[in-house]
Amino acid sequence: MKRKILVTGGTGYIGSHTSVELINEGFEVVIIDNLYNSEAEVTDRIQQITGTKPSLEIIDICDKAKLEKFFEKNGDISAIIHFAAYKAVSESVSKPLDYYNNNLVSLINLLDLMKRFNVPDIVFSSSCTVYGQPEKLPVTEDAPLQPATSPYGNTKQVGEEIIRDATFAHKSIKAIALRYFNPIGAHPSGLIGELPRGVPENLVPFITQTAYGLRDELKVFGNDYDTPDGSCIRDYLHVVDLAKAHVVAVKRLLEGKSKKDFEVFNLGTGNGVTVLEAISSFERVSGIKLKFRITDRRPGDIEKIWADPSFANKELGWKTKSTLDEAMKTAWEWEKSIRTKKV
Ligand code: UD1
Repeated sequence: MKRKILVTGGTGYIGSHTSVELINEGFEVVIIDNLYNSEAEVTDRIQQITGTKPSLEIIDICDKAKLEKFFEKNGDISAIIHFAAYKAVSESVSKPLDYYNNNLVSLINLLDLMKRFNVPDIVFSSSCTVYGQPEKLPVTEDAPLQPATSPYGNTKQVGEEIIRDATFAHKSIKAIALRYFNPIGAHPSGLIGELPRGVPENLVPFITQTAYGLRDELKVFGNDYDTPDGSCIRDYLHVVDLAKAHVVAVKRLLEGKSKKDFEVFNLGTGNGVTVLEAISSFERVSGIKLKFRITDRRPGDIEKIWADPSFANKELGWKTKSTLDEAMKTAWEWEKSIRTKKV
């Protein structure tokens, strides 16, 4: 019998790619999503890719009564992958209570119902934002966490702490937090990808929208950082590689291979790339000369961060496969396919 995995936020960017990989690996996927930042049709596109349509329950996880009913009806959930959360850094500064409410109440509801309905395993979407500006690079999982620079970042830190305390007190629950570096790109089918609402905050959707003519120019936030070309450094990984890490993590939990009740892994390539290098990569794969201008630094930006992914490489047996150029190419293909309404 297929194991049933609950994917919260499964119609979103990383959730949809993970749902595809789970189905490809023989799992049954049940998605809960409130469609705040995504569309129900994503499940049709997942079906086009995999041949199987995941079921979708339109529920807000903050609504505990509805979530409880879901668990009453679905007594056979083996594990949860919890993506559903708000993620816009600047919005979180203006709407902190919405962020704390949405990102933390949902997590608490899930953990409480896991306890009551005997669902043992959860994989949590965390972020390298918890490290702030690390002193040592590449950054390892045991690097000290820095005070968060935004309510969004704080929800990831506090989320991890809530899970740590819950797994300590409730031995039936085991968890893995995955600290993502910068996920980019889209599924090679061109059927699923990132659908940013309004003006994108993240670099790659801004690049592809500028190239497509939806934005006048890309602003490069600063070229006076202490990096080889003065622009910030990040670790960009292909979203399909990231999705596959979730399948590995969930299998590790299901097979009882975790070494601790709560484990944390960095998910990145291990390569630091500057903003200007990312632009060059895009230009190379698209053949388009991107309009960009150097502007002031973005307040709160980290100068440089990239992962030491060796713990995930060794313990999970997971490693990124795609190059930056490959990931950029899929991001560009995706941008074109949404604009020409091929999806
Ligand atoms: C940001 C968040 C991080 C969050 C992540 C989610 C901050 C400080 N951090 O990460 O907490 O987990 O998004 O995806 O906001 N850039 C430009 N021009 C642009 C957009 C970005 O030059 O129009 C640069 C940024 O300065 C940065 C790099 O591109 O150096 C990547 O930016 P972005 O995609 O926003 O990701 P992070 O800042 O790494």
